[in-house]
This record gives sequence, C-alpha cells and structure tokens, in this order.
Amino acid sequence: MTDVRGRTAFITGGANGIGLGIARAFAHAGAKLALADRDVAALERAKKELGEVSSVETVELDVRDRDAYARAADAVERKLGPVSLLFNNAGVAGGAPAPKLTYELWDWAIGINLGGVINGIQTFLPRMAERGAGGHIVNTASGAGLAATPSGVLYSTAKFGVVGLSETLQLELGAFGIGVSVLCPGPVATDIVARTAQSQPPANESQSDEQRKLRAERLGLATRVLQQGVSPDRVGERVLEAVLGNRLYIHTDRIMEQLIAARAQALLDALPEA
Ligand SMILES: NC(=O)c1ccc[n+]([C@@H]2O[C@H](COP(=O)([O-])OP(=O)(O)OC[C@H]3O[C@@H](n4cnc5c(N)ncnc54)[C@H](O)[C@@H]3O)[C@@H](O)[C@H]2O)c1
Repeated sequence: MTDVRGRTAFITGGANGIGLGIARAFAHAGAKLALADRDVAALERAKKELGEVSSVETVELDVRDRDAYARAADAVERKLGPVSLLFNNAGVAGGAPAPKLTYELWDWAIGINLGGVINGIQTFLPRMAERGAGGHIVNTASGAGLAATPSGVLYSTAKFGVVGLSETLQLELGAFGIGVSVLCPGPVATDIVARTAQSQPPANESQSDEQRKLRAERLGLATRVLQQGVSPDRVGERVLEAVLGNRLYIHTDRIMEQLIAARAQALLDALPEA
C-alpha cells in the first residue's frame, strides 16, 4: 500500500497506549479513524485530541463479544465508509504461575489476546475481500510470541497464536491485495500492567500478606521495565512505515534478537539427519 489517505482504520484498544500511538500516526497520515475500546473515558479523550486532525468515531466494544463486534462494524462503516485498515491490537498482560492457573484465567487471556484478533478478522475480512479494494491488517502480538520468555504461558500461548495466524494469513491474502503485518513489540511505555491488574480474574492461590507483597513487587518491576521502553507514538510511526512498505514483521527494538536466534537454531538442530 502506498498511501493510507482517505482510508478508514478500525483500531481495537485504540483509546490508550500502542493503539493510541497507531491512531495518531494514521490520523496524521490522512486516515479516518474508528477507535474501539472498552475504556469509554479514554475513548472520549482520544476523540477530542484526534478529532482536530481527522474524522474520528469511537465505539465501546469488548473484543470478545462477537455480536457487538458486528454491530460496531456496521455502525462505523455507515459513518466513515468501508474499513480497509484493521488493527487487532487490544490486549492484556496478566498471568500467574502455571500451576496456579484456572480455566477462568485461560478463557480471559486467550479470549482477549487471541480471540479478539480472530473476531476482528472474522468481522472485517469477508467485507474487505468482497469489496476488492485491498487494504491491510495489523495484528498486535509481542516479542513473547516469537520465543519463550518469562511472560508466562497465558500470554505466550496467545501471542504465538497471533504470530502463526498472521504469517499464514499473509500467504492467502496477497491474492486479494490485502497486506498483513504482525507487530511484535518489546517493552513499550504504556500502563498495560496497571490496567490489566484491575480486570484480571484471580489465580488459584491463597492471598496471604506475603503473596500480596510478592505480587505487588512483580507488578512494580514489570511497570518499571515498560516505562523504560519505546514510546507508543514511536511504535505508531513504525507501524505506519510497515503498512506503507507492506512488511510482515514489525519489531520495536532488538531485545528478542538472541532468543529468536537460539530458538531458530534449536529447531534446526532437532531436524533428523538428511
Ligand atoms: N506495552 C508493552 O510493552 C507491550 C509489549 C508487547 C506487546 N504489547 C501488546 O500491545 C497491545 C496493546 O498494549 P498496550 O501496552 O498499549 O496496553 P494498554 O493497556 O495501554 O492499551 C490496551 C487497550 O486495550 C483495551 N482493552 C483491553 N481489553 C480489551 C477488550 N477485551 N476489549 C476492548 N478493548 C480492550 C484497554 O482498555 C486499553 O485501552 C496488547 O495486545 C499488548 O499485549 C504491549
């Protein structure tokens, strides 16, 4: 794609963090914006800011709700025209030690971080393909979707899924003139840790004072690491460059370099002799 001007972008998790960074970059490049999020106050703030730059509609949406997703798509396309830029970005960062996980936690994390991406594709891809006007889909995964990290199995399972889905989708969608990118950020300075802590279901562990203190320390450390990361606006600019250049992988730093190399080498080393 050589220009996004005049196209309509649908961005989930568009009210805060990376989604808002993407919204800013695409608004300044001339795209119309549909911002979908469950944080209504942040949606209002984003609309006030970006309404000065481009046409902006907001929609309250939980990306797990498929019926609501279809209604949101109808509503924004009536107002802004066909969506041809889709950003499946909404996500949460939480988790718990593997032996303490519950089905509720699995359903919550996979439902948002992988199911939300699937729901976006199911809602918009048939419309985009049928219209034949091309477009681009960006799915937000993570560096934790490229090699095993201490991010925890809940998060990594979903993010590996998003990477595999994106790579495979790209094989198919070239024929429709629809590009696919997968965003695999390292640390980005957002409030995802605190936001997630407010909505995460409890793990299967007793909440002794000692454990509460340990958990608070873990969250504090994660927050400090992210605050030293790349700015969301810089990520938005990288995403814009990748869409314009039709590039599959979008990294935000080189933090995963050694883990990716080690994983690729270990896979090759495990192949049987020729
Ligand atoms: N911040 C990082 O360091 C980092 C690193 C790698 C990947 N990511 C990924 O980037 C994406 C965005 O994260 P962020 O750091 O900008 O977080 P953020 O918390 O700043 O923004 C996420 C947005 O998604 C929204 N959201 C959460 N659950 C939702 C749901 N069920 N339905 C609709 N909206 C929902 C939140 O309200 C919020 O506005 C996520 O997928 C995250 O996993 C972030």
